[in-house]
Amino acid sequence: MTQHHQHEVVIVGAGGAGLMAALYASKGADTAVISKLYPTRSHTGAAQGGIGAALGNLEDDHVDWHTFDTVKGSDYLGDQDAIAFMCEQAPQVVYELEHMGLPFSRTKEGRIAQRRFGGHTNNDTHQPVTRACYAADRTGHMILQTLYQQCIKNKVHFYDEFHVLDLLVNDGVANGVVAVALATGELHVFHAKSVVFATGGHGRVWEVTSNAYAYTGDGVAIALRKGIPAQDLEFFQFHPTGIRKMGILITEGVRGEGGVLINNEGERFMDRYAPTVKDLASRDVVSRSMYLEMRDGKGINGKRYLYLDMRPETVNKYAELDGRKTPDGKPYRVTAEQLLSKVPDIIDFARTYLHVDPMAEPMAVQPTAHYAMGGIPTNARGEVVIDAKNTVMPGFYAAGEVACVSVHGANRLGTNSLLDLVVFGKEAGLRATEYAQGADYKDLEADPTAYTREQVDRLLSNPREEKAALIAEEMKSEMFDNVGVYRTETGMQAAEKKIEELRARYLKVGVDDHGKLFNTDLLNAWELGCLLDVAQATAASAVARKESRGAHAREDFPTRDDETWMKHTLAWMREGAIQLDYKAVTKTKYEPMERVY
Ligand code: FUM
Repeated sequence: MTQHHQHEVVIVGAGGAGLMAALYASKGADTAVISKLYPTRSHTGAAQGGIGAALGNLEDDHVDWHTFDTVKGSDYLGDQDAIAFMCEQAPQVVYELEHMGLPFSRTKEGRIAQRRFGGHTNNDTHQPVTRACYAADRTGHMILQTLYQQCIKNKVHFYDEFHVLDLLVNDGVANGVVAVALATGELHVFHAKSVVFATGGHGRVWEVTSNAYAYTGDGVAIALRKGIPAQDLEFFQFHPTGIRKMGILITEGVRGEGGVLINNEGERFMDRYAPTVKDLASRDVVSRSMYLEMRDGKGINGKRYLYLDMRPETVNKYAELDGRKTPDGKPYRVTAEQLLSKVPDIIDFARTYLHVDPMAEPMAVQPTAHYAMGGIPTNARGEVVIDAKNTVMPGFYAAGEVACVSVHGANRLGTNSLLDLVVFGKEAGLRATEYAQGADYKDLEADPTAYTREQVDRLLSNPREEKAALIAEEMKSEMFDNVGVYRTETGMQAAEKKIEELRARYLKVGVDDHGKLFNTDLLNAWELGCLLDVAQATAASAVARKESRGAHAREDFPTRDDETWMKHTLAWMREGAIQLDYKAVTKTKYEPMERVY
């Protein structure tokens, strides 16, 4: 039996963006959050190292520097007005989180502690600046806990472990969603005035990823199926330091605290690639440098991994060579005890997954698929925009990793994801409520669950000629090899073809579990359909872009081409095929320059 609910604002996803949106929406409207996970298990919890804000608690820093670093980090594809807004808002939202009770680490004077992170610099000296506000290496986790408590206090309705499978649209206006309750298998229709998607990213498209199992691109895929485009999907970030083979994140905060990347010859090779900021260059630069080292046979024992060394003696040696000083001008030195207090979870991860003590041995790392710069296009108020003219779709909002505002352009700086999700989660929540206050509920269609049932019934009734797990494996390795850190025309075309073939085979996927209660077999198969749609749009967008920019590094077009390609990609899925269009990047005061780190 389908159950019906009505809430003025319905938010899908309970990570940082969803909770921030809910907190603000609930100040003016009846608000519900629907999440396929228990909220505090959301992937925001995996963001470790910090949230960027030019507080200047330890040294000189400025909002303008943060803005410029973000524009430069984006390889000039980010929209400069939205970036300026985000960086201006940063100090205020960080203090707001502090006042809500977020337990930030502290300086000895009691201020919010800050550390160095990749691509964040003092714009005068070009040296790394301490801009990442952190709570040990659990910053995202703390944001989740803090916002969840605030939402409970604000009487937000939570539908935990409800998996949204469809967006409802009437005459171009979003008016609800359809979800399945994991515990019962029943369908639920949520009728809303405003719908906010905060469903996160899609790193599970790739073989080695830092992303949670839940990161299956549901939001982007559902939007694509409703005729809404996806923006800039070709830009997917590989974080330099994932645990070898597993991809689990080792925070950039380790390098912020002085850890260095080392090749098989014992060389701190980032000296050669980024002579000024070295291991703290932006992520695209570091991941590419690691690939080049491994390709040159300088991976550890000739294999496809390198070492991340944070032993105190190594940190102190390179701090001395670099002439690194503390904010009060003394030589920078660390002890094992200090490192343990700053990145305690990393020490645990290394012990658990690599069986090494990072205070005594280096950690085996490789670049890991980490973050989608692209997603559902929005403006800076979180409103979804559906074409090259930025036409707003009434009633539909997106925030966090699922959205493309675009503040990250072709490459995101570390710590700007947490910032993005609180700043634009708040905007989306405020705007969704404002819209709901002036709108009536738009009628639902006669049978709102028809499309959802069609998808689910196909998976349940197929004879299982194809298995979801096998198709997933083929997709992941194809995308990792051919639409990964380095790309070529032939590789990407092969990936496009392969994904097309897998999508056809997907129509024959069946499931073992035909029960109703907690049927994760069925939902995992449904999620694979989302991953395949997103993979197809990613490969098509990537093949078409004939230049190298940020995370899109082509061996056959190795340079950035601002004249032709300083524009955003829009990808639509029409009758199963991908169609592309482009829209202008908003430039305010920063002319594109060569990126030197
Ligand atoms: O390295 C990290 O702690 C990741 C942070 C981020 O992606 O912003």
